[in-house]
Amino acid sequence: MQKLSDRTAGFTDSVIRRMTRISNRYGAVNLSQGFPDFEPPKEILDRMAQTAHEDFHQYSITWGAQNLREALAAKQSRLMGRAIDPNGEIVVTCGSTEAMMASMMTVANPGDKVIVFSPFYENYGADTILSGAEPIYVPLYPPAFNFDPEELEDAFRRRPKALILCNPSNPCGKVFTKAELETIAALAVKYDAYVITDEVYEHIVYEPNHHTYFASLPGMWERTVSCSSLSKTYSITGWRLGYTIAPPEITERIKKVHDFLTVGAVAPLQEAVIPGLKFGQDYYDGLLAVYTRKRDLFLRGLDDFGLIHTIPQGAYYVLMDISEFGFDSDLAFCEVLAEKVGVGAVPGSSFFHEPVNHLVRFHFAKRDETLREALGRLESLRKKIPPVKRS
Ligand SMILES: Cc1ncc(COP(=O)(O)O)c(C=O)c1O
Repeated sequence: MQKLSDRTAGFTDSVIRRMTRISNRYGAVNLSQGFPDFEPPKEILDRMAQTAHEDFHQYSITWGAQNLREALAAKQSRLMGRAIDPNGEIVVTCGSTEAMMASMMTVANPGDKVIVFSPFYENYGADTILSGAEPIYVPLYPPAFNFDPEELEDAFRRRPKALILCNPSNPCGKVFTKAELETIAALAVKYDAYVITDEVYEHIVYEPNHHTYFASLPGMWERTVSCSSLSKTYSITGWRLGYTIAPPEITERIKKVHDFLTVGAVAPLQEAVIPGLKFGQDYYDGLLAVYTRKRDLFLRGLDDFGLIHTIPQGAYYVLMDISEFGFDSDLAFCEVLAEKVGVGAVPGSSFFHEPVNHLVRFHFAKRDETLREALGRLESLRKKIPPVKRS
C-alpha cells in the first residue's frame, strides 16, 4: 500500500475533543471543550421546529440562503459601522472553522508565511498545514497577554501573506485594545499583508473592555477577512453556522473555495437561526450579563481555593496555573484531574507554540449548577492531587 498523505501525517487528534472523550469516560464535569450546556433562545428553537415542515430540505444557495445573508448583513453593518452587501461580501460557512479554512486557502499559497499569536486556538495549526502555509508564531506575554511590537515587526519583516487575529482570544481571554489593533494595522499596511480575523466571541467582552472589529479600522476593510460564527452568540455550536465578511474580490474567491469544500451550510438551520439575528441589543446585553455572572462565579471559586488563574477580558475560558502540582506533562495532569477530581480541562500546551506546560484551560459556558458542581469537586483538588510545592 502507498503511504497516506504527508501533509496530514503529523496530525494528532484534537486535544480539546480528546479531553471531552476522557471526561466522558470518568464521568467528569466537562469544562474542556467550549460549548454550553444550556438551551439556545426559544425563538430559534421554535423556528427550527417549523422549518422541518417547510421547504428547506435541499441545497441552499451555496454561499448562504438569501434571507440569512440579509439578516447577517443588517446585524453586522450596524456593529461594524459600514453597509455590508449581503450579495457580494458575505459567505455563510459550516462554522467559523470552515470560514477560517476557506479564508486561509483563499489568501495563502503553499509556502506562504502566516503570523499566528501564541497562545492560539488549536485549529489554526491545522489550517496552516492544510493550506500549506508556514506559521510564524509571535508570543503574547502574560499576565495581560500583550505582544512586543518589535517582535511583531520582526515577524512582518519575514514578509508574511497574512496575520491571524483571534479577538477576543481563546484560550487567554485577551481583548485587543484599539491601540494594539492600530499597531497591527500599520504593520499590515507597511508590509502589505492580509488579516484574517476570528471573532466568534465578539459578543462576550467583559466590562470595561471593548471589542473593535479589525475591519472597521481606517484602511483595513480592503485587507481583512472577518470570520465569525453563530455557535457561541446563540449557544448553537452543533448547528455549524459561521460566515466570512470581506470585500467583493476576496469574497468571490472564498465562495468558490467554500463551494468545493462543503457546498453549503445546513439549509433548514440557516433558516431557523434568522429570528436570532433579528434580536435587539437587549439580547446581546443579556448574553453578556449571563457570562459575566458565570465568569465571576467560577473565578471566585478558584480564588476561594487559592488557585492561580488568568482573568479573561473576553470569551469564556480561564487558564489555571498547575505549577504547584509538579507535573512534567499537563496532559497527564488533565487525565488525573478528570479521573480523581472529576473535572475535565484542556492541557495548556495544546495552545502554545512555546514549551508551556504549567497551565490548564477550563471553560465556564455552563449552567451555574454545573459550575458549582465543578467547583465543589475542585475544592478537593489538593487533597486528591497533593501539591509538591506551593507557588
Ligand atoms: C476561537 C475560536 N474560533 C472558532 C471556534 C469554532 O467555531 P465554530 O463552531 O463556528 O466552527 C471556536 C470554538 O471553540 C473558537 O474558540
